[in-house]
Amino acid sequence: MAPPSTEILVLGGTGFVGRALVARWARDGVPLRVLARQPEVARTVLPPGVEVFGGEATDGAALDRALDGISMVYYLIHSMGPRPPRVGFREADARVATSVVAAARRARVDRIVYLGGLGDDAREASSHLASRREVGRILRSGPAAVTQLRAGIVIGPGGSSFEMMVQLVERLPMMICPLWIDRRCQPIALGDLVEYLVGCGRDQRTRGGSFDVGGPDVLRYSEMLIRIGRQLHRPPCLVILPRFTPALSAHWVGYITDVSPDLARPVIEGMYVDAVCRDDRIRSLLPIPQTGFDRAAAEALAERGRHSPVPALRGGHLVRPLEGRIFRLLRLGTGV
Ligand SMILES: NC(=O)c1ccc[n+]([C@@H]2O[C@H](COP(=O)([O-])OP(=O)(O)OC[C@H]3O[C@@H](n4cnc5c(N)ncnc54)[C@H](OP(=O)(O)O)[C@@H]3O)[C@@H](O)[C@H]2O)c1
Repeated sequence: MAPPSTEILVLGGTGFVGRALVARWARDGVPLRVLARQPEVARTVLPPGVEVFGGEATDGAALDRALDGISMVYYLIHSMGPRPPRVGFREADARVATSVVAAARRARVDRIVYLGGLGDDAREASSHLASRREVGRILRSGPAAVTQLRAGIVIGPGGSSFEMMVQLVERLPMMICPLWIDRRCQPIALGDLVEYLVGCGRDQRTRGGSFDVGGPDVLRYSEMLIRIGRQLHRPPCLVILPRFTPALSAHWVGYITDVSPDLARPVIEGMYVDAVCRDDRIRSLLPIPQTGFDRAAAEALAERGRHSPVPALRGGHLVRPLEGRIFRLLRLGTGV
């Protein structure tokens, strides 16, 4: 177990996963630091007592200040977003990771805990997943012991993939869907993921290891959409059309939901491979209770509803007899 005085820096502490992790450590009274690009905004969303340092993770001087006296870093940064970096998100991700490794070396950081993506080792991994893999490789090239967790879709209020699915269900009674909708995923509840991240930070046996984390259910994205729809009393009718490119999907998602096409595209490309745990070694080290998809989604929808109530039921009465049904218009290829 790490001593309670361990100083922790969270990179990406203002993000979806980062905020939940910071709140969880803060509840235990553990001293915590966050490096944020907009420190004044960060202070309004993070619990009181969290030390906020301003700066970009590519800025060596900012990192040196934030890393002073730190022994463990959580790396929860990625560069995908509504305003993609000029150099492209892969290059931006690699620059951030390289800069963090150099600064961690200077500060003699003992450990880095990194959250990557399930499916990053698939032969046909998307550039998003390849970038996650590359970041892991760069982090491991430094002297700090790196613990890597790989997760598929994280179920929680405000997660970009989860939000994308919920808004599709809320807004469309019938969806023409691309192939990724039939891929398999092992979603994990945000709360469970946070417990694994905290557990890895506390348990020295996870030093230097890579672990897959997921919930108890392996589901196709189509099943997740229908299950979310049942909870919202509007299971969609899905029509699967194989000839639907990621670019077309991203534009379509950008049109229908609040998720921008620039963020949707890499997320969707990542959905073209199965994101299922290869092993469950983490469970023998950290046997936390697992939350099933339906409960995780119900809790996330309830939390989300408190902030933005579900919009009024979209028309859709003509489609109502087809609700919850899946049609595959063409024979699908192997492995789908
Ligand atoms: N969400 C999921 O379903 C999911 C699934 C599997 C794995 N993951 C992994 O979990 C990690 C976190 O994902 P997330 O969903 O929490 O992402 P997110 O909500 O988009 O947050 C990304 C964070 O990175 C920060 N950031 C980006 N570039 C930065 C830079 N140059 N300098 C400093 N901070 C920077 C952002 O800061 P600002 O607030 O300043 O923008 C934000 O705090 C990622 O590694 C992702 O691959 C997520």
